[in-house]
Amino acid sequence: MRVTMVGTGYVGLVSGACFSEFGHQVICVDKDASKVEALRRGEIPIYEPGLDKLVAENVAAGRLSFTTDLAASVEGAEAVFIAVGTPSRRGDGHADLTYVYAAAEEIAAALRGYAVVVTKSTVPVGTGAEVERRIRAVRPDFAFDVASNPEFLREGSAIEDFRRPDRVVVGTDSARARAVLRQLYRPLSLLDTPFVFTSRETSELIKYASNAFLATKITFINEMADLCEKVGADVQDVARGIGLDGRIGRKFLHAGPGFGGSCFPKDTLALVRTARDYEAPTRIVEAVVAVNDARKDAMADKVIAAVGGSVAGKTVAVLGVTFKPNTDDMRDAPSLAILPRLIAAGARIRAYDPEGMTAAAALIDGVDWVSDAYATLPGADVLVIITEWNEFRALDLARVRSALNSPIIVDLRNIYRPEEMSEAGFTYFSIGRPPVAAH
Ligand code: UDX
Repeated sequence: MRVTMVGTGYVGLVSGACFSEFGHQVICVDKDASKVEALRRGEIPIYEPGLDKLVAENVAAGRLSFTTDLAASVEGAEAVFIAVGTPSRRGDGHADLTYVYAAAEEIAAALRGYAVVVTKSTVPVGTGAEVERRIRAVRPDFAFDVASNPEFLREGSAIEDFRRPDRVVVGTDSARARAVLRQLYRPLSLLDTPFVFTSRETSELIKYASNAFLATKITFINEMADLCEKVGADVQDVARGIGLDGRIGRKFLHAGPGFGGSCFPKDTLALVRTARDYEAPTRIVEAVVAVNDARKDAMADKVIAAVGGSVAGKTVAVLGVTFKPNTDDMRDAPSLAILPRLIAAGARIRAYDPEGMTAAAALIDGVDWVSDAYATLPGADVLVIITEWNEFRALDLARVRSALNSPIIVDLRNIYRPEEMSEAGFTYFSIGRPPVAAH
């Protein structure tokens, strides 16, 4: 089948490359000419494991190409995906749909035969109907359908998530559009992937409800972690103890410094706003947003408490600044709240992240960025782990201990076992577990 993917951001690029891998003929479109030029040279603008290879292979096979010419790319396409950004609108937290509607109108003008226009961007309920209205206004007599097909990709494992999704959700009332999408995802139906065919509005809401539920799960365990710290309980055992109940499930119960990233913060906020507009407030999700925001700030206080109440004049070694490992993405990363607070409290920060330092340096002033984990340590008064990159799990603890000025670790991701840290001579603070002193 012939597919056009409008937008070569995270979702567009991964989806486009994966559809071409399925055997379809895919053209990815972006307005940014320098980005398209770079993609044609095989340079991938984001860090996503395996994506460079996937793109290169499919470009070489003649199934994947890049262009700035939207009109030409739409010609002959059976499905045209809108995968442009929907950032939070400044001021009110609503999703900003300017790019979605602009793409819809350009697509409308370029349609030559029947096509399904599919919104893949995360869009509020009702956006599909508005996209249809806008296309209809440009092309009153033309046959087309507008479907919703939300994406559930996680950064860092996006390709695997696309190839083996838990489900595919398609929202449309049109049998013809349904047939096109079924055909597009045919390799997945061969794997027995469940398909949820539903209305457009329902499909749009499923995406927000999924992300809000996962964000709620994380926030729930984070609050339990705070309670564990007060009563001397262990949140990891709580997570395991409740998660083994199949109705609860074990995933997404890892306590930490609060969720970040490009989706959960933006989507929970947008859901709260939509629900308020329809006078059906989602009070649980409102609490999740507020608790998570406060948590990121509270993490700086945890570091300050660990060094005895003040970081003024002290050196803080920081490992990991991205919102999670295996990405260079800094969007809404907890470090963006934690580091400026520590700096404002008088700390000197020496930090390292395997992929995120370029993006982070543009967002946080006054940090001394160094080129590997051990270089953060000399003379530091505390070591803080903010992101759980694998390479931090295997540090040489004796080397860490001897480089630090005082052997204190604040581990906001629970990547070490407390007994092991005590044995290794550290005072060790983690999340939702009793702190331990050096053995
Ligand atoms: C998320 C959704 O998982 C995905 O389905 C959706 O399409 C986009 O948003 P992503 O933002 O890439 O994906 O990352 P994810 O792995 O879900 O983590 C989000 C945040 O939650 C991170 O900050 C992570 O550190 C945090 N998290 C996740 C926890 O703190 N604890 C957990 O148990 C899981």
